[in-house]
Amino acid sequence: MEVFERTADLRGYLAPVRAQGRRIGFVPTMGFLHAGHLALMRAARSDGADCVVASIFVNPLQFGPREDYRDYPRDLDKDKELCMQAGVDALFVPPVEEMYPRGFATHVEVTGITDVLCGRSRPGHFKGVATVVVKLFNIARPDCAYFGLKDAQQVAVIQRMTEDLNLPVEVKVHPTVREKDGLAVSSRNIYLSPQERQAAAVVYRTLERTAEAVKKGERHAERLKKLLEDGIRSEQLSRLDYAEVVSWPDLRLLAQIGPGRTLLAVAAYFGTARLIDNIIVDVGVE
Ligand code: PAJ
Repeated sequence: MEVFERTADLRGYLAPVRAQGRRIGFVPTMGFLHAGHLALMRAARSDGADCVVASIFVNPLQFGPREDYRDYPRDLDKDKELCMQAGVDALFVPPVEEMYPRGFATHVEVTGITDVLCGRSRPGHFKGVATVVVKLFNIARPDCAYFGLKDAQQVAVIQRMTEDLNLPVEVKVHPTVREKDGLAVSSRNIYLSPQERQAAAVVYRTLERTAEAVKKGERHAERLKKLLEDGIRSEQLSRLDYAEVVSWPDLRLLAQIGPGRTLLAVAAYFGTARLIDNIIVDVGVE
């Protein structure tokens, strides 16, 4: 596995790969890698990428002033090892000044779908995500790029941006990788105390119960939202940020759900850790 810190060096490595007509699969991450990230890397390989490129970059632009940019967990040596095991060919680990040199002044903003959910709780977050992802796409110029559905709104934003800006990248989506009790695997789970870790299982349990209510015929969005809120609040160690029921993938607030896909989405704090999770339910024409 090759490791690059400079854009020019990664480009130099990828130019002959592209010239030979070999397919480049790309997995952008912020590191502190876990089973979710590794599943994306393996998916890139099994999907037919001849060259798997991953990036590790804790992107300051997507963190708010009171968020965990400085404390975000980092372990580059272990990450390199894991990337190697997952079959990554090239790992891009740019320093901040390589991505945002002095004078940097351009941002990409996806409007509308960023007004809800995490976009509302974390102003500027998706502007930071869209900007860094378009930069990484331009640096690696992959054929395909892989994203996890755990960050469903991020997927919607990147799909919207890719289509709107005619980016020549196929965006692929991977299901959420979970622990045995359903908790979505996340770099931020490291912040949880043993009690909070146990309590955090309420998030997926609540999503599943709410999806079950949809299966049994509940279509009223406010009632579904209440089920989500009550479920999360039933756990003493949780502090609800939001629970929402919106159309997927255009993230519109609904009175009634269906026909079509609906995103049930939750964000909640357990101690200092802000965890997000979701389920997409599909209701046919009734
Ligand atoms: P990060 O949180 O490191 O996640 C990198 C990728 O892994 C994202 O596509 C995310 O959705 C996916 N992922 C995380 N946990 C997952 C899980 N449990 N199951 C499946 N996939 C999972 O998301 C980011 O970084 C950044 O915003 C980034 C896109 C790299 C831009 O900075």
